[in-house]
Amino acid sequence: MLLSIENLDVSFRNEEGEVTRAAIDVSLTLDRGEVLGIVGESGSGKSSVSMSVARLLPSPPAFWPKGRILFDGVDTLTMSLAELRAIRGRRIGVVFQDPMGSLSPLHRIGDQLVETVLLHERMTRSAARAMALEWLGKVGIPDPAARAIAYPHELSGGMQQRVMIAMALMLEPDLLIADEPTTALDVTIQAQVLRLMKALHRANSAVLLITHDLGVVSQMATRLAVMKDGRVIETADDPAAFFANPQHPYSRALIGEARRMELE
Ligand SMILES: Nc1ncnc2c1ncn2[C@@H]1O[C@H](COP(=O)(O)OP(=O)(O)OP(=O)(O)O)[C@@H](O)[C@H]1O
Ligand SMILES: [Mg+2]
Repeated sequence: MLLSIENLDVSFRNEEGEVTRAAIDVSLTLDRGEVLGIVGESGSGKSSVSMSVARLLPSPPAFWPKGRILFDGVDTLTMSLAELRAIRGRRIGVVFQDPMGSLSPLHRIGDQLVETVLLHERMTRSAARAMALEWLGKVGIPDPAARAIAYPHELSGGMQQRVMIAMALMLEPDLLIADEPTTALDVTIQAQVLRLMKALHRANSAVLLITHDLGVVSQMATRLAVMKDGRVIETADDPAAFFANPQHPYSRALIGEARRMELE
């Protein structure tokens, strides 16, 4: 099993010492070749769980009262920072809702891609640069050589999203975590970006796809989990069967609401 989340609790402690329980006893598994979709309303704990995988939540305020997150058999919650850094970007790629979660406003996008490559691969700078330009092309950025010298704010939101996807997929990670990867984009661009992620991601790798968009999940996921109030309330090995016959009343409500919005 590539990823095994076992009985995970994720909590946040604020400055007054009050604790919010964001995820409660969550267990999920993900293997190579699978796309696990996590759906659920805002605040249900989707990001808390997925961002815990590569320990991307700032701690404090986040802490993990119990559970394990085994990535290839090793618990990322107890890994050293050096081990984590070796994995992030190289074996686990992350795409956020907000590209500025991955991109630095201070550096040219080409340089950011080159530095990411050089951090993980033994390669000359010019080879890394060629790879960066190749990936800017792959994600559909026109005239990569000219765009590489731009700063993130000089690109549209859709273009920033593409750069972030290049950054996340360039090193062919075993696991891609995509947390609301397209919600900040308009609908036509959303579809393009999703198709791109699907096309560029290696077939034998795994995807954790977090979204509240059930249409996206039904297109992409091979398995899914529904979260509510920090808990996984339903999992399905067959998304088509889930949409036809959801077991939990909350899942039924979620699907009903999505259908109503589609009709509007
Ligand atoms: N940094 C934080 N400090 C305190 N509480 C937090 C923090 N991040 C998240 N929470 C709380 O944890 C709970 C779960 O939030 P989380 O962001 O994981 O939900 P989500 O399902 O990803 O929601 P959304 O769909 O809006 O992204 C919420 O009650 C939220 O307010
Ligand atoms: Mg979230």
